[in-house]
Order: sequence, then structure tokens, then C-alpha cells
Amino acid sequence: MRNEIINLLKKENKISEKTVSELKDMDLSDFATVVKELGKEETENIKASEITKDLNTKFIGKNLYVYKEVASTNTVAKFLSMNNIENGSVVISERQTKAKGRSGKSWESPLGGIWLSIILNPNVDYSKLPLITLATGVAVAKTLERIGVENPEIKWPNDIIINDKKVCGILTEAVTKFNTIENVIIGVGIDANLNLADFPEELQDGTTTLQIELGRAGNENLLIGMFLEEFEKIANLFIEEKYEDILKEWRKRSYTIGKIVEVREPFNTYYDAYVLGIGKEGALVVEKIDGTLEKVISGECIIKK
Ligand code: BTN
Repeated sequence: MRNEIINLLKKENKISEKTVSELKDMDLSDFATVVKELGKEETENIKASEITKDLNTKFIGKNLYVYKEVASTNTVAKFLSMNNIENGSVVISERQTKAKGRSGKSWESPLGGIWLSIILNPNVDYSKLPLITLATGVAVAKTLERIGVENPEIKWPNDIIINDKKVCGILTEAVTKFNTIENVIIGVGIDANLNLADFPEELQDGTTTLQIELGRAGNENLLIGMFLEEFEKIANLFIEEKYEDILKEWRKRSYTIGKIVEVREPFNTYYDAYVLGIGKEGALVVEKIDGTLEKVISGECIIKK
């Protein structure tokens, strides 16, 4: 992480070799201050001032750290979250060079997309983590509805789908200390002002972008602002423990319920099943071919029919 930021500073010719060695020796909290300061500098496409201009939130996005390029906004957010950061701060980058997807996959993040991570300090235990991810999916779907996307759907647990293609992914990571959750990092990647040619060939089939679906490019700053507002609304439901309200919104937009899927749980064999619904902790409830019921807490499901 420290090297990543130093490389970034070097690339932008912001520091001399002497400063590099000073940065390497700096204590972590001073180093975090440098990282924060860098995130307050002007960027070309994504502009904190534009995002905050009409932002109607109480705590989400009150502190924005915007970068031209980082390896992963989740990594920067994780680092900052361990060094005194305000609840609801958001790390955004115009590009990511080593972004993380779910299940150890990488994530394409060219210029034109929305790549951000929210730092939340929700004071909850592990069992509630899946609900945060589901809530984030609802916030993205509602944002897309606000800008005119007709039927954004949520594929369990957290892919946002338009016309059977993925437009957004969410990666939630917990920062823990002595087995309790200190902070939650919610990474959101939205394929906004991009064309299929911006993605490697093997991803093009299953991918879509907002630009393709709406037939025009949109204002990324406005979109981020809208998403942060939707996120705060649903985060408040979460804080007030109104989990059923979150699940109701999720179920309304589900792409998965009622379909036959191949369930791929970590450390488990794959199996086909019919998706009955989603349980109160956010697990997928499925019926296997032999009629037994299963709760899928983590993993993936591939839609078959
Ligand atoms: C998925 O595999 O569907 C999850 C993709 C999550 C990508 C986002 S982009 C912003 C944040 N930073 C990362 O490195 N990953 C997440």
C-alpha cells in the first residue's frame, strides 16, 4: 500500500527521490495524512466539488478522497480506515490498475467507469455483513432507476444486471481487530461511460454499460452523488435494523429468485438447484434436485434457466 502511493506520487512527478525516502520512513499516521492530502487534489473527470455541490446526505460522502489512478480503491479505503477516518468517507479513483473482484478475480477499471469504496463503521457482527452487500445492490439499482434505466435487476448476491448483462459489481470487505468488525469497506464498480471495446474480449459477452443501455454518456459526478444519497437511505435502514425493508426492496428487483442455478459455494461441490427466495440474513434459499433445502451464505450462482 505504501509503495503503491509512493509510485503514484512519483508517476505524477510530485516528489523527489529525497522525499521518497522520507515517505518510506514516515510513521503510518503521517503517511495516511499524505494519502488523504493527495485525495483532495483536483482530478480531471471526477470532481469532488461537483459531487458535493447538491449532495443531500448527512454522513455518506461528506469526506471524499478522489484519485487519478490507484491499484484498488478498496485497498486505499482499507488503509485509511485503519488510520483515523470519518464514518461514511468515500475513496474514488478515475482508473484502477489492480482492482479486485469477488472470489479472487480481477476487475477491469478503465477511465469512464465509476470505481469507489465507502468506509462504514456500522458496529455489527459478521452475520450481518451479507445484508450490507444486498443493501448496496438495492442502492445501485435505485440509482439506475433514477437515471432512466428501465429494469435494473440484482443477481444474488450483488451483481447488477440490465437486459441479462452485468453493469455493476460490489465487493464488501471487513476490517477486523481481535475478531470484531472495525470497519466495512464497500467497493462498487459501475460500468458507466464505457463501450464494450474498453473491456477484454472474454468479458464482452456478459457485460453492458450505462452508455450502451441509455444510448448516451452521463454525468459521472451526478451519478456518484445520486448513488451516495441512495446508499445513505438504505444504510439508515440497516442502522435502524429494518432488515426486512431492505430485503423487500431486494426481492422486488431479484434476477435470481424462481430460476434454476448452479450453486458454487467456496470449498464445496457445485450443484444445481431451484431458487426459492432469500432468507432474513441475506442467504439464498434453494431446493436441490433431491428436494432438500439449502441456505447459501456465500459463493456464486450461475443462472441455467
Ligand atoms: C465483482 O466481482 O462483481 C465485484 C467487483 C467490485 C469492483 C469494485 S471497483 C471499486 C472497488 N475497488 C476494487 O478493487 N474493487 C471494487
